[in-house]
Amino acid sequence: MVAKAELHCHIEGAASPDLVVVQARKYGVDTSSFLRDGAYIWHDFTSFLAAYDAAAGLFRTEEDYALLAEDYLTGLARDGAIYSEIFISPDHAGKAGLSPGAYADALGEGIVRARASTGIEGRMIVTGIRHFGASSVMAAARFAAGCGHRLVTGFGMAGEERFGHPRDYVGAFDMAREAGLGTTVHAGELAGWESVAAALDHIRPARIGHGVRAIENPDLVRRLADERVVLEVCPVSNVTLKVFADFASHPLPQLLAAGCRVTLNSDDPPHFHTSLAHEYAVAARVFDLDDNALAGLTRTALEAAFIDEATRAMLLRRLGDKAVAP
Ligand code: ADE
Ligand code: ZN
Repeated sequence: MVAKAELHCHIEGAASPDLVVVQARKYGVDTSSFLRDGAYIWHDFTSFLAAYDAAAGLFRTEEDYALLAEDYLTGLARDGAIYSEIFISPDHAGKAGLSPGAYADALGEGIVRARASTGIEGRMIVTGIRHFGASSVMAAARFAAGCGHRLVTGFGMAGEERFGHPRDYVGAFDMAREAGLGTTVHAGELAGWESVAAALDHIRPARIGHGVRAIENPDLVRRLADERVVLEVCPVSNVTLKVFADFASHPLPQLLAAGCRVTLNSDDPPHFHTSLAHEYAVAARVFDLDDNALAGLTRTALEAAFIDEATRAMLLRRLGDKAVAP
């Protein structure tokens, strides 16, 4: 089995329906508006975010968050992943009455537990939510830059991409970069190629979350390849959210052929009926990628990971070991 690595997964969006049902029982909450027959229900991006927020609202204590990270990462390791970066959202913790520090500590505890039982390495990317506005994203950056948690290694921005303009968020990303954090921003998912170009021009991230609608402009695709910007591509999310009509029209193969640095990711796996293992299986089946090519995607993810060089070298060695194993 090819070793897998993931750079783009929202931890609240990774809560399995089974775990959410347990949490709902614990807090006496009715889940019928967003869960049915063991699956999340939503019909467009706005109702997806509502289901996401409703599930997130069932994680309220430090132990709840530790369990969430541990549960997700142990499952990921079982599926052959050796590395995962999770997006964490202090705004969601705030709604539950938890301080950003307590929230990050709790998720960090879950990462440590998962590593102890499976060997998977995990890191956290603090994310601001774009549609909460520039001052909210700045507050998230201030936390990320100052928290000092050894597993917080990146800063990003998710949420409604059609809200605001990248220039509104430059201060937040500058602060994060100056603190030594890696940077990534969602762009080119809900909005077109112009959104990716504006993110590059203003925010100058090391990585782009999605970025797939860059395909609408060949000059921009060349720019992504030339500037070696890493794309966190989430094919099943894209097709489920109707960013592309089907896998046949998904641009992952063209982006790879153009020399872009592409990684495979699950975004909010149970919401999109996916998993990292499923993303790799889909890439093999519909994009015709063989094990060598899949290992190449993992290698790109490890090369672009927001991680210290000793750990990167260790993970690349693990990838190499697995690649030659039968
Ligand atoms: N937050 C969680 N999932 C997201 C996505 N696919 N796009 C933007 N923000 C998100
Ligand atoms: Zn995302």
